[in-house]
Amino acid sequence: MDLNKNGKLLCDLRKAKGLTQKQVADKLGVLPKTVSKWETGHGFPDISTLSALADIFGVSERTLLSGSLEPNSKNTGNIKRIKFYVCPSCGGFIQAVGNSQVICCGKQLEPLKAKKSDEEHVLKILEIEGDYYIEIAHEMTKEHYISFLAYVRYDRVLTVKLYPEQDCCVRFPKMYGGKFYYYCSRHGLFEYKLK
Ligand SMILES: [Fe+2]
Repeated sequence: MDLNKNGKLLCDLRKAKGLTQKQVADKLGVLPKTVSKWETGHGFPDISTLSALADIFGVSERTLLSGSLEPNSKNTGNIKRIKFYVCPSCGGFIQAVGNSQVICCGKQLEPLKAKKSDEEHVLKILEIEGDYYIEIAHEMTKEHYISFLAYVRYDRVLTVKLYPEQDCCVRFPKMYGGKFYYYCSRHGLFEYKLK
């Protein structure tokens, strides 16, 4: 490992995100001088910190270890890495693959982290005439509702926008496996993986 090369990449990624060394240090719970050491090639994050750092910069741990963005570029656009963004100002949602920078209403948006379905956000699936009929027993008021559902499988994403006062059910063509994502306006993004 060439620590100078790895350090330079950490520094470049931090600047690209518009963060100071202190901001990165605060997010990780380390001292700013530790971040400075990494960037100048006098040390490298341990494995537990590396994962958090990769999340902050929106890259893989492998990229941070390699010291170069190149290996990651092969995966850019891989739909398995789809990310969803919701703008807190206008409520608009955006989906992207790869390490896109997403800006809405003048602010850079961070990708949402999907949680596993919980008991207040249970996704029910029925199979009807070769389609998946998805139902979520969730209130659909202006203050608290499921605002979109996406079905992601291999090379495609099907997305349906939902509105308050509408029933929370959607029909998707069956694609045999894949993942559903759905967003609650109050509780965030959830995921459900088909067996
Ligand atoms: Fe909710």
